[in-house]
Amino acid sequence: MLDLSQRIDCVFDDGQAIARQITAAQSTDAGLAGTLPPQAYNSDAFFQLENQKIFREDWLFIGHVSQVANVGDYFSLDIIDEPVLCTRSDDGIRVMSRVCLHRWVPIIEGSGNAKAFVCPFHNWSYNTKGQLMGAPLMNQAADFDRKSCELPQIRSEIVAGMIFITFSSDIDSLLARLKPVLSLFEKYHFAELQTAYELDYDCPFNWKMAVETFMECYHHSAVHRTTLEDSFPGRLSYIGEDGPGWTFCHQPLRKNGEISEVLTAGLLPFDGMSEEDLRRIDLMLIYPFCLIGINPDRISISTLLPVNKDLTIWHRLVLVSKASMAQEGFAATAETMKTGSKAIIAEDLQINSLQRRGSRSQLARPGRLGHLERTVWHLANYMKRKLL
Ligand code: FES
Ligand SMILES: [Fe+2]
Repeated sequence: MLDLSQRIDCVFDDGQAIARQITAAQSTDAGLAGTLPPQAYNSDAFFQLENQKIFREDWLFIGHVSQVANVGDYFSLDIIDEPVLCTRSDDGIRVMSRVCLHRWVPIIEGSGNAKAFVCPFHNWSYNTKGQLMGAPLMNQAADFDRKSCELPQIRSEIVAGMIFITFSSDIDSLLARLKPVLSLFEKYHFAELQTAYELDYDCPFNWKMAVETFMECYHHSAVHRTTLEDSFPGRLSYIGEDGPGWTFCHQPLRKNGEISEVLTAGLLPFDGMSEEDLRRIDLMLIYPFCLIGINPDRISISTLLPVNKDLTIWHRLVLVSKASMAQEGFAATAETMKTGSKAIIAEDLQINSLQRRGSRSQLARPGRLGHLERTVWHLANYMKRKLL
């Protein structure tokens, strides 16, 4: 017989009850680790709580400095319902809201280079610092002072070329938190890399399923048995201790494997890679959802854009060295890389979609985690800290 005493009734969607279950039930002993309750992936109320206590109270990756290399360069994205704009003007990189101060239309979409942004609704215009420059026919609006109007600026930090934002004014500097891993970013030349391409796709499931799957290789032998498992057997993967803001999963190359199985044809390995670096791929999570794939010749950095409890947009940047980008035939190399990633992504999308279906069952219960999934437990512990 099933013990139904632990059951959380989803008919009355109670985010606080789910949070209480997470803070009470999650073991502090790695050996006893279990998953979050399945309701944590399927509750609108809990998603709202995550929005308040996690997404709005932590640092979120939005892009890389190579996307705004020149004055006038900009890119935009919508993250946790906030249309944001990152620009480079003569005094540097800044991030701001791109919601028009008039009647809220986002003033620009996509990326490019511009001297000014003109809102498509009534032609109010802004410079790259976010100051309102023009507001046609507003001269009869009493006390309207165009010069004092500026798009809300968003707190941002650049760490090793990665641009992060937060909507919190209280949380500590990210740079201070990431100090112990800065040497790793340096070793892989994060700040000097170039954006080879971007990849955006819909994940029809909760953001945590995307994070957890990225951060463990236990599923390789089933989900990626014809793709990743040969070269990167899940059983060889291992997980270290997590830090205050991150965790790692290491994926070594199979025993006696060739370095060519790790390297990408057409790319040059980064300067300074050791023999061991050339035989490994590392996966890093900077909480809550910055996902980094560290290869000896390319880095992928993703941010998740949770739309609601059931839909997450995956926004991925793939970065390579300037030398790789200058290689002849680089466009074809990038296409091959894209095709390769899409095959793996399709395998993950399929399994996580099935997982979502199962997790909605009233009979689904928290499951146990093995040692290869310790990163899933690390995420649960992070959630616990944020929800307390
Ligand atoms: S909403 Fe932007 S100009 Fe009216
Ligand atoms: Fe996977």
